[in-house]
Amino acid sequence: MSNSLGEKFRITSFGESHGKCVGVVIDGCPSGLSLSEDDIQPELNRRRPGQSQITTKRQEEDQVEILSGVFNGYTTGAPICMLIWNKDVDSTKYELFRDVPRPGHADFTARQKYGGFNDYRGGGRFSGRITASFVMAGAVARKLLRDVLNVDITAHTIEIGGIKAKKIEDISLIKKNVEKTPIRTADLETAEKMIELVIQAENEGDSIGGIIECIVTNVPIGLGEPIFSSLESDISKAIFSIPAVKGIEFGAGFRVSRMKGSENNDKFTFKNGQILTKTNNAGGILGGISTGMPITFRIAIKPTASITKKQESVSISEKKETELQIEGRHDPCIVPRAVPVVESMTAMVLADHAIRYNVIPPVIRRMTS
Ligand SMILES: Cc1cc2nc3c(=O)[nH]c(=O)nc-3n(C[C@H](O)[C@H](O)[C@H](O)COP(=O)(O)O)c2cc1C
Repeated sequence: MSNSLGEKFRITSFGESHGKCVGVVIDGCPSGLSLSEDDIQPELNRRRPGQSQITTKRQEEDQVEILSGVFNGYTTGAPICMLIWNKDVDSTKYELFRDVPRPGHADFTARQKYGGFNDYRGGGRFSGRITASFVMAGAVARKLLRDVLNVDITAHTIEIGGIKAKKIEDISLIKKNVEKTPIRTADLETAEKMIELVIQAENEGDSIGGIIECIVTNVPIGLGEPIFSSLESDISKAIFSIPAVKGIEFGAGFRVSRMKGSENNDKFTFKNGQILTKTNNAGGILGGISTGMPITFRIAIKPTASITKKQESVSISEKKETELQIEGRHDPCIVPRAVPVVESMTAMVLADHAIRYNVIPPVIRRMTS
């Protein structure tokens, strides 16, 4: 298994969905960053189950505890260990999936790869719950980026089950609207239609997916380590570590394949003495290095694998096809809860690169006495 991410700002995620806890260790966080549970908890609350009518009915309070690496309200430079305890756990429904794997989930591949020793309860390491550890680490990365560089990261839902949100260019409006609706889209008019579609899918025993867009502003020029740690490579790797992500495109994305060079090339210009581009088809990255323009990308999230509709699967012990009816408490649409996870992964990658490029120093502030 590979459970660590990043070079200098390096996180290690641990825990299983129905084990004792889910947590993270961050190694390489600079000292002198003011940090407490209050910086982490609001982000975890955005990811938490049971937060609205369109998320799973599981109730987990997900109260974060910082166990190490913070003293007198500041990071010390030592590893930061944080966790949440698992409380609302019902593992009974998962016994069946050891023998009859859920189509679309990791039950089959995990069993084959780990010889059946994997903790299958609640999906184990393959549960969406693991993303709580990403959000804890992401909250620290985000604070680091904001405090030192004023970097700002916003993700929002732009499509649900084929229903597209109206394009909103104004980032401040996106930020203002996104938490006003449980579907986390900035287009409040379309939000209701999206929510209805999620509820309809759930009533039919089904699920739907969608698209999340992420926009990062105030990114310094020069982040990214070509060739194999280009910014696109590292963001993509981090984003694909979120379960249920099936695609990513930066800037104009797949549309570039239908453009001419003269259309796609972002023309350089000067504004207030700074070199900018007039358009941003590159999504803020050229040659794997940040251009200083907003980093923009969109990701495709698949429909939740665990649906209550009857499905075809196999019984591994009986070596024959069988029907599977999944019970339990699952999200009919993962997208809204994945929004803070996308922001967190992005923050971790950018914090790591900012430290590697020396634009975030190893000591954020020095004590005066
Ligand atoms: C926030 C979040 C919540 C999730 N909740 C569920 C869920 O309730 N039921 C489910 O089947 N999958 C859920 N998933 C997705 C599965 O964990 C994922 O589909 C599975 O591990 C297989 O991995 P893959 O889809 O990346 O191939 C969730 C993912 C995220 C990011």
